[in-house]
Amino acid sequence: MKNINPVKTYSWKNLQNHFKKIKKLTINDLFLIDKNRFKNFSINFENKILFDYSKNFLNNETMIHLFNLARETKCIEAINAMFYGKKINITEHKSVLHTALRNDNIHFFLKKHQIYDDIKQILKKMKNISDNIILEKWKGYTNKKIKNIINIGIGGSHLGPLMITESLKSYKNKLNLFFLSNIDSNQLINIITKVKPEESLFIIASKTFNTQETITNALSIKKWFIKNINIDFNKNIFSKHFIAVTNNIDAAINFGIDKNNILPLLSEIGGRFSLWSSIGLSISLAIGFNNFKKLLQGANKMDQHFFSNPIDKNIPIIMALISIWYSNFWNTETEAIIPYCENMRFLPAYLQQLNMESNGKSIDRNKNRIKYQTSSIIWGDIGTNGQHSFFQMLHQGTKLIPCDFISFAISNNNNYQDHHIKLIANYIAQTKALAFGNIDDYICKKNIYQCCFGNKPSNSIFLKKITPYNLGLLISYYEHKIFIQGVILNIFSFDQWGVELGKKITNFLVEDLNQNIQKINKYDSSSQGLINFYKNFN
Ligand code: F6P
Repeated sequence: MKNINPVKTYSWKNLQNHFKKIKKLTINDLFLIDKNRFKNFSINFENKILFDYSKNFLNNETMIHLFNLARETKCIEAINAMFYGKKINITEHKSVLHTALRNDNIHFFLKKHQIYDDIKQILKKMKNISDNIILEKWKGYTNKKIKNIINIGIGGSHLGPLMITESLKSYKNKLNLFFLSNIDSNQLINIITKVKPEESLFIIASKTFNTQETITNALSIKKWFIKNINIDFNKNIFSKHFIAVTNNIDAAINFGIDKNNILPLLSEIGGRFSLWSSIGLSISLAIGFNNFKKLLQGANKMDQHFFSNPIDKNIPIIMALISIWYSNFWNTETEAIIPYCENMRFLPAYLQQLNMESNGKSIDRNKNRIKYQTSSIIWGDIGTNGQHSFFQMLHQGTKLIPCDFISFAISNNNNYQDHHIKLIANYIAQTKALAFGNIDDYICKKNIYQCCFGNKPSNSIFLKKITPYNLGLLISYYEHKIFIQGVILNIFSFDQWGVELGKKITNFLVEDLNQNIQKINKYDSSSQGLINFYKNFN
């Protein structure tokens, strides 16, 4: 990958000049100028996902400059480097191979890569475990069937499986799924009061197997399990109820996990890109291995699109450029993700990690402090609920907030079409109201407070239906969009060193909070005050 400062490119300067012109046009103007605007600024991906980016501050000239920015910052070269297994994760000296997890049919790499054999083995093991649990061949230590799956993990070892299994709820089997991520014991208690040890399978999902929250939760669950089974504990019992997904095999064995119950998580798979890997075991258990494979196939289809399409026909590249257009030229600070889909309510949280842990950086690939914007703040919530909470600000606030509105044309609940029609009507109405407002209505002239000036940009991402395949397409799209943003912004998107300092300070504080001594004077006065407040009560 080339390390090009985007600000130094010709296209960046052209975009700055272009901005001075186009900012005088409203979205309404842009629609009046181009009668075929929807056709010219939308892409229908195999009639499975429609990407409508027409309600944005852009025209053909904008796109030409943006495409030139992608060319000047060598995006196509970066895509090839990733798919050909180059060590583009330079700060961790690794390749970035999440696409290899889902391309058993197309070998993108120049040569057959060892990882394929590893992946095949892992998928085989995932299928085995899933089939045996779902078909009730795998029994608990009292010979009862497994009813509950508890995924113990956090960050990428939690958010992906949670978001996918919730989004695909209509594909779920009868297994009860629980996600234990937070170190706040209330989440643990909420779960152990609902499940019986003899009917439960615990998946300890942790690439490093030393994340404080995950290991603390795992040890507490182990203790609870041993305390609650009515016979002496032995390894054979443990192996019927505990599985580990990790890159740290030794640590899992030391924890007491049977070697045969350890699913490797390959080191070239980043945590936030790992739902397609053995971290996806809870997905495969919840919806069945065949549906998990369809999820992978959908992602692979978008990979092929991303890998083989030219810049101006490449959906992740187009949408990445639009995000950069807003954050770096319109100075927007945030992007809202608004799924008009109850079951996709965890998508904003998932995309927060994918986006902000990848591109929340301030040192460029040449080790220089960055003087331009990198990751936007990603936030959001489901529609139509958002319309009754933060939409007021979207419509009449002072902030410019580009939004991704996401919905699905075919409902999975045939008996409630009335609901679905209203959901879709709201989904379309909101982007229309945001873009065009009501400035021509008499109400706007009569009462300024009821005036929506419009001119608020949004993308509409419209799935045909929420299926494993289509969800795979959508998530892979976002992975590649975020990757391209990092390429253009000249940052390393695959490390997350920023999270280490907090962990280090936490470890010192855990020790100090455990001390009986009342007064500790080695911290700043604020931390000191907080420690002493805690100690007043404990
Ligand atoms: O948030 C930091 C992080 O390392 C994430 O990148 C990762 O997904 C999460 O913690 C969990 O890490 P592990 O899977 O190693 O427990």
